[in-house]
Amino acid sequence: MSENRVQFATRLGVIATTVGSAVGLGNIWRFPFEAGAHGGGAFLIIDLFFIFIVGIPVVCAEFVIGRHTGSNVRGAFRRLAPGKAWGVVGYIGLLASVLILSFYSVVAGWTLEYIYRSVVGFGGVESVEGLHSQFDAFATSDWRPLMWTLVFLGLNYFILSRGVQKGIERMSNIMMPLLFVILIVFCVNSLMMPAAAEGLEFLFKPDFSKVTPTVMLSAMGQAFFSLSLGLGCLITYSSYFKRDTHLVRTAGVMASLDTLVAVLAGIIIFSAVFTFGMEPAAGPKLVFEILPSIFSRMPGAVIWSTLFFVLLMLASLSSTISMSEISIAYLTDEFGMGRRKATILNIGVAMLLGSLCALSFGALSDWTICGMTVFNFFDYVSSNILLPIGGMVISIFVGWVLKRGIVNEELGAGSGISRVIVSLIVVCLRYVAPLCIALVFLFGLGIF
Ligand code: PFF
Repeated sequence: MSENRVQFATRLGVIATTVGSAVGLGNIWRFPFEAGAHGGGAFLIIDLFFIFIVGIPVVCAEFVIGRHTGSNVRGAFRRLAPGKAWGVVGYIGLLASVLILSFYSVVAGWTLEYIYRSVVGFGGVESVEGLHSQFDAFATSDWRPLMWTLVFLGLNYFILSRGVQKGIERMSNIMMPLLFVILIVFCVNSLMMPAAAEGLEFLFKPDFSKVTPTVMLSAMGQAFFSLSLGLGCLITYSSYFKRDTHLVRTAGVMASLDTLVAVLAGIIIFSAVFTFGMEPAAGPKLVFEILPSIFSRMPGAVIWSTLFFVLLMLASLSSTISMSEISIAYLTDEFGMGRRKATILNIGVAMLLGSLCALSFGALSDWTICGMTVFNFFDYVSSNILLPIGGMVISIFVGWVLKRGIVNEELGAGSGISRVIVSLIVVCLRYVAPLCIALVFLFGLGIF
């Protein structure tokens, strides 16, 4: 590990930043609509399977690589396997991080518009139908979604340019505890709604008839996306861990809290969906149409609505800064670029690609790649192709190529983690994870 690499200052910082990266739109926005479209509880069970059997071991693998080398995603593989092709995974990660940052910032931009609307009011519209048309008109318009995407990326710049401790860590330390408190309050409120039981049944009672290989691929993509896996984000963050950070425990806490937030978001949204007679498979717009309608019926509507969208935006922000950090660490480590310059470059590219994604709902909706809009294409390629490939290569690398002594030392060092657990993780990395990923991947893409 390089001697003078910056480190996260505290243990809380380690948890807040990694959970901050994991918890985001993937949990609060994407999980509910994916589960809604793919059999509710069945999707949840498959998602949990992937998180615990494949996800946690791969999180550990990324932590081992990152902490051991104290390096960015490209540099880490160059140090561990000089001159070998493994380093390609670094480039896959860099590409995936820029694609995700671009489409993710559009949705995060929508949350800014909704913070604004929460404060100024939704023009007296309260019905789900009215809010639906309002959302449609907004998302397909030209300049507002574009403007908010750029504003959101500007906020990223503001935090990232302040550095790892003063920017990323400090902001995560404040936001993450707040996010949990507010989510629980919202959850209690939802559970008191008339059709909460139906919502819970939908979320927890599996309907396996909707499960197809494509659904399995989506669930795996969701698990990887939600854990920020397969693109080197966790390699980058763990390069800032201290020697005494417990890697396995951190991976466990991160995966558990990440899952908890997705389940809480599911409870909040499905209780409301059934109470208001909406379609659970309504798709990506679920959060922006249903929640404002619920808030409008609550006392203190303005405060609740504003608070929710502020939190959604901040959850997004703590995720996007982790995506950007992949490229920033790469540019500063590998090319000796100053942090500010590297941040400008990363955010500049994201602004360019993000603009295409923002306009893909309106002016550029005819621009398609493989039959998908730019937004959908970026999402599909990154979540369903690049992240699984990245995850598979990382697990094979740590399971088979990296010296066992390094893995044992990093996972076991000073943490009281038994050898049995370390061995189980290695077995998952050697056999279970690569096999699962390969099978689901090939079936899901229709290659089998
Ligand atoms: N895990 C984030 C979410 O669930 O919203 C998304 C994400 C963050 C993906 C960071 C990739 C990443 F590197």
